[in-house]
Amino acid sequence: MNQHYKLQVKDVRKSYGAVTALENTSLEMREGEFLTLLGPSGSGKSTLLMAIAGLNNPDNGEIWIDGKLATYLPPFQRDIGMVFQNYALFPHMTIMENIAFPLRMRGESKDSINQKVKEVLEKVQLSHVAERFPRELSGGQQQRIALARCFVYKPSIILMDEPLGALDKKLREALQLEIKHLHEELGITVLYVTHDQEEAMVMSDRICLMNNARIEQIGTPDELYHRPKTIFAADFLGESNFIDVRVKALQDDTVTTETSTGTLLHAPASPSVATGTSAKIMVRPESIRVLADTETAHNILTGEVTDVIVAGGVTKSFVRTADHPMLKVSQLTGSNKLHKGQQVRLGWTTCSAVVLTNGGKP
Ligand SMILES: Nc1ncnc2c1ncn2[C@@H]1O[C@H](COP(=O)(O)OP(=O)(O)OP(=O)(O)O)[C@@H](O)[C@H]1O
Ligand SMILES: [Mg+2]
Repeated sequence: MNQHYKLQVKDVRKSYGAVTALENTSLEMREGEFLTLLGPSGSGKSTLLMAIAGLNNPDNGEIWIDGKLATYLPPFQRDIGMVFQNYALFPHMTIMENIAFPLRMRGESKDSINQKVKEVLEKVQLSHVAERFPRELSGGQQQRIALARCFVYKPSIILMDEPLGALDKKLREALQLEIKHLHEELGITVLYVTHDQEEAMVMSDRICLMNNARIEQIGTPDELYHRPKTIFAADFLGESNFIDVRVKALQDDTVTTETSTGTLLHAPASPSVATGTSAKIMVRPESIRVLADTETAHNILTGEVTDVIVAGGVTKSFVRTADHPMLKVSQLTGSNKLHKGQQVRLGWTTCSAVVLTNGGKP
């Protein structure tokens, strides 16, 4: 065990009968890190979280928490706090008693408990509901109290499984910030689960993208967004255009590819592509610019605008080109407005593109 890590998951595997819920998985978290497990439904996020919490027994592998082997320790010996979606507060206790509960269980003095409960209620801006019962709070307020009850005793690691899943968008966003602030202020290590890519991007130091019971890619939000390693990763985070190409040449830092109509497209070099193989060029809609008549770019496609959709501050246009039937372009609304039927030249820089292999598929 490397003392450097707060949490280390080594080769953990879990199956339920014939279903492999989690393939052999390894993962490390450093102290104070905010790491998010992101992925579609059924990809194994909760299974991994429950193994770390001690709520399921892995078939294989080891879990180390704070330098101690914890694979088969009961949950209460792991110094882990948990917050779930619809986390049930104790209905017969007031809000204050609910938050005080984990501190009482740890035998803290009355004065210390009162002080800590007061502080954490201020942090989640709910001091005025201290004397109420959970049923007298809205869903969002209850969820904030559940967070407060977890943060108040400063567990070594907090695990959260879709804690905002049941809330509406506005409240979700407010609580995302609140969780982030609590995390920064208290410096607690947080392992968070969501299937919402925006939430993961906003909150995380690193994202662990899961797919089919295994880790697809792990990295900072920026790395996953700008340097996805697979088509799945590129597709899952944000919007993307994929253009079918064949790899023509590999230089030191650039890959040159060719579309079926002979257009050359370039991307930064990637170790996984080989000359002569088929691949895809991925470019984000916001990386594509509409070129002025005489303007040039390293990568250019021409086509006809088929649709323009104003979605608030961003306008999305679709362009039919010979190499892609519906290339998505997003621009800030008001800038360089396109109209249906317009002929356009689209360009992007080589460093904003990514070359992806088809993962063995033709
Ligand atoms: N107790 C169980 N018995 C049998 N199969 C299970 C059990 N728990 C999970 N699974 C299966 O294991 C796989 C992974 O489930 P898991 O709950 O980890 O997914 P998830 O990524 O958390 O999905 P969601 O986003 O829907 O919560 C799924 O195929 C699921 O059906
Ligand atoms: Mg789940």
